[in-house]
Amino acid sequence: MDPLAQALNDRITAVNPHVYAMLSDLGKRIYFPSKGILSQSGEAKKLAKTYNATIGTAMEGGKAMHLACLMQQLPGLSPDDALLYAPSPGLPALREAWRDKMLRDNPGLQGTTFSLPIVTTGLSHGLSVVADLLIDADDLVLMPDMNWDNYHLNFVVRKGAETCLFPFFKDGGFDVGGFVEALQKYSAGRDKLVVLLNFPNNPSGYTVTESEGEAIAAALLATAERGVNLVVIIDDAYYGLFFDDDVMRQSLFAKLAGRHPRLLAVRADAATKEVFVWGLRVGFVSVAVGGGTDDMYAALNEKLAGLIRSVVSNASALSQKLVLDALRSPSFIAEHAAKVEVMKARALRVREVLRNPVYAEAWTAYPFNSGYFMCLRINQVNTETLRRHLLEKYGVGTISITPTDLRIAFSCLEVEQIQDLFDIIFKAWKDLAK
Ligand SMILES: Cc1ncc(COP(=O)(O)O)c(C=O)c1O
Repeated sequence: MDPLAQALNDRITAVNPHVYAMLSDLGKRIYFPSKGILSQSGEAKKLAKTYNATIGTAMEGGKAMHLACLMQQLPGLSPDDALLYAPSPGLPALREAWRDKMLRDNPGLQGTTFSLPIVTTGLSHGLSVVADLLIDADDLVLMPDMNWDNYHLNFVVRKGAETCLFPFFKDGGFDVGGFVEALQKYSAGRDKLVVLLNFPNNPSGYTVTESEGEAIAAALLATAERGVNLVVIIDDAYYGLFFDDDVMRQSLFAKLAGRHPRLLAVRADAATKEVFVWGLRVGFVSVAVGGGTDDMYAALNEKLAGLIRSVVSNASALSQKLVLDALRSPSFIAEHAAKVEVMKARALRVREVLRNPVYAEAWTAYPFNSGYFMCLRINQVNTETLRRHLLEKYGVGTISITPTDLRIAFSCLEVEQIQDLFDIIFKAWKDLAK
């Protein structure tokens, strides 16, 4: 064990030994090389007033060396802001701005200590550093049976963990009983369980109601109270895209943060879908646990920074700067709300179209109230066959999630295209069902 890792482990254990126990082997070994090139150059940035010959960037005339043909494409940005490296945990101002946004969106977090978000290269990367920190090959990850397929690559293929599923829907809502039963079953006899929850859910587009959210939080807290160490990863990729009044508006993170010393809540979210900047690759990871202190979160963040440093080194400074300036803009909230309205109009139009009883022989729609997607449960016809037929005969792209479930991304349809899309899917279904 490197002494720097040991020092971080000691700082974590001193505050909460359960958190130390929840770390993976890699999580225990990783550290940020605080005596290495990055920290020496950080010191030099502050103190080297004569010459700074520390880091592998090139300077000219006091600013970042650059090609005019490149900087010409970025009017309004300085070469330093656009081209120099960001620190491994992210631009401090962006981390603060995202934390402020979290507090604004989730007033339930006021008064709770949680870590300063670290910046990742998108949410997929965020989930991978979380998995590196907290998941080993003998860990079990409980997740909904409706889930994003990349979890399998991250948790099962990369980390060698096992997954187990709980039923997501029952009787037109979240299957609280199914979740509680699965939680009891899979935590029985285990010291540690990882639970992954994602609202708005991909692929269904469903977010729990306030009372369903309360029931989930209560079941998790009761499990921690029974002595199980719980890592609860909350994937909030589509956070804020809520279309119904009874949807739980605050992240589940707000209901769990700081509530129990054996419940480590991890929020992985991103500008990606929320701020509509998919290719900029800006994500965040924040953690909270009962009795957590600023020093313990700083130690965990150093470990996360070490995981970032060892693979991507740091996320794009240019992307971070763009997101930061958008968050700081006085029109951010209004502009964002206007886009949520556009998405809501599409979701409501989908619902309206699907009310037509003619479709009943072909499918049932799963409940949806948020996010980018909705799913159809298709009767009689295999969805992969339907998907191929839609593509080849009608030039329409959809996603076959399971042999029965077809995912439609209404996020990329204009309101006036929605009726036509479902009519085509219905026609294609009839071609195959007859
Ligand atoms: C539920 C969910 N989580 C995470 C991600 C990954 O987001 P990113 O593009 O920021 O890696 C996606 C993207 O499709 C998603 O649907």
